[in-house]
Amino acid sequence: MDFCPDLLIQLRGAKRVTALTGAGVSQESGLRTFRDPQTGIWSQHKPEDLASPEAFRRDPQLIWDWYAWRREAIKGVRPNPGHYALVKLSEHTPQFTLITQNVDGLHRMAGSTDVIELHGNIRLVRCSECGQIVENWEEVEGTVPRCTVCGGLLRPHVVWFGESLPRAELEAAVEAARTCDVFFSIGTSGIVQPAAALAYAAHNRGAKVVEINAKRTLLTPKADFVLSGKSGEVLPALVNAAWL
Ligand code: APR
Repeated sequence: MDFCPDLLIQLRGAKRVTALTGAGVSQESGLRTFRDPQTGIWSQHKPEDLASPEAFRRDPQLIWDWYAWRREAIKGVRPNPGHYALVKLSEHTPQFTLITQNVDGLHRMAGSTDVIELHGNIRLVRCSECGQIVENWEEVEGTVPRCTVCGGLLRPHVVWFGESLPRAELEAAVEAARTCDVFFSIGTSGIVQPAAALAYAAHNRGAKVVEINAKRTLLTPKADFVLSGKSGEVLPALVNAAWL
């Protein structure tokens, strides 16, 4: 795979690199994306029916069971070369920030540290009343577990449609976008706000925006470098070309 020499120079000279990832980076690990017309999760379900606080209030058991099914589905899933290449990228850049919209926890599993999980983590749950985050809970068929502190219903520790993002994570993500030299947008359709605004914030501050995606997105015309392809192939090749 050949890369534009200017991109390699920018990468080698970058003091701060920030990367934003979406469902596409986990596609090669066997996880479905959200908006792929045939296979995307939202091609078969309406997000408001399954990923909203209203849906949970309406039928907590249905939502609990759906996330329990999704947790089961990711149990055997492993990071792919794209996840590992981002770990390598962080080792070669003085300051690196990884922001993800993914709730699958695969970046951490690959060895990335200080990952900003903007949309939460599906392997954790929290109390819908007091907010207590819970790592281990008893799964009893047909019941939604309750918080041992206040008795409230437990819910997935993810951001649902219509909910705001966790403030600390969002502030850290915006800061990392505004102060980087190179901003990667990897495997995201760039539709969901506020994550989708980060690349533009970086661009407006003079950073070079690099898009890695199997298809064109809304961001493509604005990107300084467009690397079309699968992130599990493009990212390892790029790291090799830049540093090895
Ligand atoms: N490599 C690179 N890009 C890929 C690959 C791949 N192997 N496979 C798919 N893609 C691209 C698709 O072309 C698409 O642009 O990944 C993108 C996935 O887009 P979405 O399904 O919209 O996922 P994402 O952008 O992460 O969604 C954002 O929306 O549903 C909510 O909370 C959910 O975090 C999610 C948010």
